Amino acid sequence: MEDIRLENLAVRFPVKGGAVDAVDQVSVTFKSGEITGIIGESGCGKSVLGMAVLGLLPTYAHVSGEIWLGEDNLLKLTPRQMRTIRGRKIGLIAQNPGDSLNPVRKAGGQLMEALGLNTREKSCRSADARRLLEDFGFSGEQAVRVLKSYPFQLSGGMQQRTVAAMGIASGASWILADEPSKGLDEKLREQMYETLRKVKKHHANGMLMITHDIVLAETLCDSVAVMYSGQIVEKGNSVIKSPRHPYTKGLIASLPSNGMNAMKGLAPAPGEELKGCKFAPRCPYTLPKCMKKRPEIYKDESGMVRCFLYA
Ligand SMILES: Nc1ncnc2c1ncn2[C@@H]1O[C@H](COP(=O)(O)OP(=O)(O)OP(=O)(O)O)[C@@H](O)[C@H]1O
Ligand SMILES: [Mg+2]
Repeated sequence: MEDIRLENLAVRFPVKGGAVDAVDQVSVTFKSGEITGIIGESGCGKSVLGMAVLGLLPTYAHVSGEIWLGEDNLLKLTPRQMRTIRGRKIGLIAQNPGDSLNPVRKAGGQLMEALGLNTREKSCRSADARRLLEDFGFSGEQAVRVLKSYPFQLSGGMQQRTVAAMGIASGASWILADEPSKGLDEKLREQMYETLRKVKKHHANGMLMITHDIVLAETLCDSVAVMYSGQIVEKGNSVIKSPRHPYTKGLIASLPSNGMNAMKGLAPAPGEELKGCKFAPRCPYTLPKCMKKRPEIYKDESGMVRCFLYA
């Protein structure tokens, strides 16, 4: 059982007139045997962190630090070795189906390939592909139709579920699911999570689940990491029930079930450099030192938090 461990991971994109620190010195361990949720507002760096782990960032990204999977530092592997890792060790359910589905090939062939099946052995083996689709809420008849369709013939939700099936098809020991329920109605969303939970229980070693859905993160995940402006500000196994970081508290207070008390202010603009804590300008508990110095990560038995209040 191999954990995924990030050491000072940083991803910087050069942009006109500066740079965006999409992932900013993240050190964290995602434990095997667990589903770890990653939550945080749009643009905080969730997908970039995931793509860094998979070695799928564009070549112009500056990546530093270490990403360990067992004995391998993934950042030191060759592109070819990384392809093997993606096939066998980490499967991806991408945020945008277009990133995984080839528009000019039928879904069936793509799914069979992901299953490691020879697409010519259609008749006997496509049963596996069909069953996999059925796990994601397609009826037998629908599954047959999906296998024969080109991606553009499928609705967004159908594409999303096909991509999920492809993501788990290789039997990789880790699954990274980036907003796997995007665009699905409630019933299909539940089914998606039920299936992923089963996958995790029976096949996968561990799972990273990137989601906007905080309530879901709470029910599905063993541990939740909260990202703000490229950093993980808090992680633990009762983060939603007992948030510690002021940002997490704000996020939870802004849920509809808690009266939708929107947080004041905005996250730092991409590329904006702050000397102290990145949340300090919005934080209701700011201390003078918060504006001057970055808080370290404080760890204890309930997890980790990057905030001077817990020093
Ligand atoms: N290829 C890229 N080139 C330049 N900047 C990028 C690139 N990809 C992402 N970014 C920037 O990095 C930051 C983090 O983006 P990311 O896609 O990881 O956000 P996210 O947390 O996944 O958001 P969402 O919840 O909307 O999916 C954003 O400021 C984004 O604009
Ligand atoms: Mg994203």
